[in-house]
Amino acid sequence: MISTPPAGYRIVKLASGAKSIQDLNCGETFHPVIGPVAEARALYVEQMRLPDRLRKATEEFVIWDVGLGAAANPLTILAATATIPATIRIISFEQTLEPLRFAVEHRDELGYFAGYEPAIARLLQDGSVEFANGSQTVQWSVQLGDFPALLQAAVAKRSLRPFPAPHAILFDAYSPARNPAMWTLPLFRDLFQMLAPDRPCAMPTYSRSTMLRVTLLLAGFYVGAGHATGEKEETTIAANTLALIDQPLDRKWLARTERSTSAEPMVEARYRQAPLSAITRELLAAHPQFR
Ligand SMILES: C[S@@+](CC[C@H](N)C(=O)[O-])C[C@H]1O[C@@H](n2cnc3c(N)ncnc32)[C@H](O)[C@@H]1O
Repeated sequence: MISTPPAGYRIVKLASGAKSIQDLNCGETFHPVIGPVAEARALYVEQMRLPDRLRKATEEFVIWDVGLGAAANPLTILAATATIPATIRIISFEQTLEPLRFAVEHRDELGYFAGYEPAIARLLQDGSVEFANGSQTVQWSVQLGDFPALLQAAVAKRSLRPFPAPHAILFDAYSPARNPAMWTLPLFRDLFQMLAPDRPCAMPTYSRSTMLRVTLLLAGFYVGAGHATGEKEETTIAANTLALIDQPLDRKWLARTERSTSAEPMVEARYRQAPLSAITRELLAAHPQFR
């Protein structure tokens, strides 16, 4: 029998002129429309006020990078903040290093690798790297495997602190329809449990769907409307403190969830859409954000 090898990746030119990567297996483009660097700047650097938070940081600043892919998100953050003295630890989660290898082969087209080639080569080879980034010291490691499973295992032994709690999470999975396992309520509950209550942490995501926002609220996060990225006029930002959210979702938004045909969180890794259940409605009404 002849088996078909996985199709792999290709470089695509976006409407903005920037180049990004498309996964030919699932058809998704990593940073559609405005491109990797512009999207990472809008969604993460500016929205999470990273320059300001890094300037004020009195301890190592921990970033969880969920879906390392072609590394555009962490590299854009490093390039944008290199002049700010800080110690940064990046923990990237990814099931395959293929997109990063592919991106390195196409680094001239993608552009955002400039100056970081040796660090990325070491990361690919050893799974971790320590290097100077301008005024910063950076420790970067990759956790290779299935993120929901890794997270579940980490929660089970969290008293042993398998990973330092994050100050920022870059949550960049494929869409819920393509990759439902990365968007379930159990996953976000596990993620919330890995945060330290005394360590403010923000997590922007590109989706603004009601289902995602309800899921994040039920998992324990505060949730707000997030900055536009060019592709979307609005995104979503979640955090363990309202202080990191400029525009928290309000009671008007809560009232609108009643009319949505896709508001109920997914509890299994199977994509489906459903209106709010009675129990979810009660839990939402009791959330501190709406009390
Ligand atoms: C949109 S891409 C990430 C793009 C990336 N953040 C960047 O800046 O280039 C989504 C990534 O999630 C990874 N992924 C999908 N399912 C996963 C899983 N269950 N565990 C870990 N990584 C996963 C994919 O391999 C893919 O690289």
